[in-house]
Amino acid sequence: MPTIVFANPKGGVGKSTSAVILATQIAAKGADVTILDADPNKPVSQWSKRGNIPQNIKVIADISETTIIDEIDAAAAKTPFVVVDLEGTASMMVAYAISRADLVIIPLQGSQLDASQGAKAVSLIKQQEKAFNKTIPLAILFTRTNSALKPRTLIHIQAEFYKHGIRALKTQLHEREAYRALFSFGGTLETLDPSQVGNLEKALLNAREYAAEIVAMLKAEQSQETLVTANV
Ligand SMILES: Nc1ncnc2c1ncn2[C@@H]1O[C@H](COP(=O)(O)OP(=O)(O)O)[C@@H](O)[C@H]1O
Ligand SMILES: [Mg+2]
Repeated sequence: MPTIVFANPKGGVGKSTSAVILATQIAAKGADVTILDADPNKPVSQWSKRGNIPQNIKVIADISETTIIDEIDAAAAKTPFVVVDLEGTASMMVAYAISRADLVIIPLQGSQLDASQGAKAVSLIKQQEKAFNKTIPLAILFTRTNSALKPRTLIHIQAEFYKHGIRALKTQLHEREAYRALFSFGGTLETLDPSQVGNLEKALLNAREYAAEIVAMLKAEQSQETLVTANV
């Protein structure tokens, strides 16, 4: 069942935040999700230890280069969705996780520095495609964007990726206090207290739209795969 991997060699671009938002939104729709916390700093495990985690989310930590592939396969056999949060580095573990992905999401913020690191993630994925002789679908996710305005740098970066045939999700994850609050209070956007967290409703709408776009993308990839297999 689909494995969605969050990768970018740069730290602080929003991988863990975007991974937890995706997992919790899929779980809110009723599907079981396993999150593999493959970052030695264990940000997702720390989030889960704060409590209020939906019953249909399982977090697995203490994953190493030698166990990541087995962990992904075992999780994919048990739950319909697997979300992998990786460390902000280019390691063997990252390469292995990418090789098993049905979709790699590359979160980045709208700066040129982030774009270069995002381009590195893309080349690593292309390398894995060659090594394993398979297609690994990917998409850029712009994070921490301003909901009110679209800076020129962001438009330029989007255009550059597009020119090179690299798609970006239409939905961007805006800069929202609620997404930070998830990691302070634990739980999900649905369990946060609107009296303590500003603009929670807008954050929820944005998160739902983001998760729906990824699920639709996975469905499209799956039907594409079925078509290809049927033609063989
Ligand atoms: N959409 C967002 N809105 C607000 N804060 C965010 C958002 N995405 C990430 N952050 C914050 O940015 C920092 C880095 O995010 P994180 O998800 O830990 O990145 P990474 O996993 O790539 O290192 C954290 O402090 C996190 O709370
Ligand atoms: Mg992280």
